[in-house]
Amino acid sequence: MFKLENVKFKDIIEINELKIEDNLVTAVLGPSGGGKTTFLKLLNNMISADTGKIYYKNRLIEDYDPVKLRRKVVMLPQDPQIFKGSIADNFKFTEELTAKKYSDDEVYKELLKKVSLDKNLFDAAEKLSGGERQRLALARVMLLEPDTLLLDEPSSSLDLETEEKIIDMVVKYARNNCRTMIMVTHSPDIADEFADRIINIEKGKIV
Ligand SMILES: Nc1ncnc2c1ncn2[C@@H]1O[C@H](COP(=O)(O)OP(=O)(O)OP(=O)(O)O)[C@@H](O)[C@H]1O
Ligand SMILES: [Mg+2]
Repeated sequence: MFKLENVKFKDIIEINELKIEDNLVTAVLGPSGGGKTTFLKLLNNMISADTGKIYYKNRLIEDYDPVKLRRKVVMLPQDPQIFKGSIADNFKFTEELTAKKYSDDEVYKELLKKVSLDKNLFDAAEKLSGGERQRLALARVMLLEPDTLLLDEPSSSLDLETEEKIIDMVVKYARNNCRTMIMVTHSPDIADEFADRIINIEKGKIV
């Protein structure tokens, strides 16, 4: 799926060689400031490497139309922005941004169930708690049905029990629908339990 060769970004990332396989769950671990978020951003071309090559499905990442690439490779940021308006508006705005047609409310409701968010579609999104916002943001990513999900600490605001439940759900979603998932997590336990492969990034290098 992804192949990196001699990739450098400022003095933050230096990866000589890395392959990330299709349809697997990869966890990314490492100390704060080590370059995990930067690594994810390189994978959907939100930032471009200074040198080296990044391939997605055997094609150089910069050869893709960035908008199309970001519909296939969707990133859930570490601190996702919640849009103004209702929960339904958040889903609709996500679809507008990616030039996708609006889905039926039933689809949105199903997603809320998936992320265990017991709220009405017309509730104000800004009133949600931190952990609820995080789950709404995850639901918005799933709405786009990306080939690859880049999740940056998707459960950092959740209690242990909810974290386990949500990660289990999204991993099953990825496996059952043949998606590739790359997830930054602070939790070695979550990585061990759910990932097919673990990558450790320290001081910008794979260790
Ligand atoms: N665009 C940028 N320009 C300059 N420095 C940057 C840029 N983006 C990130 N950095 C720096 O690069 C380092 C790695 O940042 P990054 O956000 O990738 O770390 P991280 O591993 O995700 O950390 P955390 O676990 O705290 O989220 C940090 O020291 C950060 O300040
Ligand atoms: Mg980070």
